[in-house]
Amino acid sequence: SRQTKLKEVAGIPLQAPTVDNWRQIQTFEAKPDDLLICTYPKSGTTWIQEIVDMIEQNGVVEKCRRAIIQHRHPFIEWARPPQPSGVDKANEMPAPRILRTHLPTQLLPPSFWTNNCKFLYVARNAKDCMVSYYHFYRMSQVLPEPGTWDEYFETFINGKVSWGSWFDHVKGWWEIRDKYQILFLFYEDMKRNPKHEIQKVMQFMGKNLDEDVVDKIVLETSFEKMKENPMTNRSTTPKSILDQSISPFMRKGTVGDWKNHFTVAQNERFDEIYKQKMGRTSLNFSMEL
Ligand code: A3P
Repeated sequence: SRQTKLKEVAGIPLQAPTVDNWRQIQTFEAKPDDLLICTYPKSGTTWIQEIVDMIEQNGVVEKCRRAIIQHRHPFIEWARPPQPSGVDKANEMPAPRILRTHLPTQLLPPSFWTNNCKFLYVARNAKDCMVSYYHFYRMSQVLPEPGTWDEYFETFINGKVSWGSWFDHVKGWWEIRDKYQILFLFYEDMKRNPKHEIQKVMQFMGKNLDEDVVDKIVLETSFEKMKENPMTNRSTTPKSILDQSISPFMRKGTVGDWKNHFTVAQNERFDEIYKQKMGRTSLNFSMEL
């Protein structure tokens, strides 16, 4: 069984090496032309990352395949000594940089705010996100064991998973969306109308690509293509980190898989908790397509 334990920063559980490297993360120096991809885990990070990369590379597939996806845009909080940390990697990158984070707003390195960086936030409905995270917890060997679905259910709603509470994370980024340069997207919209959402990202990035290029990006960033693509499907990540024989990284890529996991009682309880925690926000998620 795994020996992994999470540690907390200001009440948010994070992976221990990240917490041990917290000083370097908090003093990270963002640059004004940084674009930061922000998500709660399992909300479509890899998907939006590939979209952003393809836009940046003007739809040239070969340029997106210059490196496996997790090496193209580091997570600023990533740490696994003795390898270079996310901050080390970002510091080596030429501007303009595209970086990633799963951090909630209150833990973001302050220089992102003072430099008025662009933020691209993707939110996914809580139930599908929770299901996806459960399967990720099962296969990831660097997270604690999730236990049974019922046990994991409690851990998730109590915000005791890595990167903390879904509710607080999504609410936190939603509430500041008009104060900063934030494009707030939804996984479900990206599924329903990828072309439309990709065009929004393109405009946000100040790019203007021809329609045939946009169509190509839609195709290349489909779930089916990304599942087959060794640069995006994490097939090169060692089994000691991600054991894809337990659950594939590119698992289902659908909206509504929660219905295959939640009992009726769990669903009622979840809806009640959701109302308590999210009731006063104007956020609205599709739970099925
Ligand atoms: P599922 O586990 O529901 O299949 P992240 O990249 O933030 O870790 O999110 C992973 C989730 O996004 C997984 O969800 C994965 O299958 C899904 N995903 C990845 N690429 C996708 C794509 N191109 N289209 C739709 N979903 C995608």
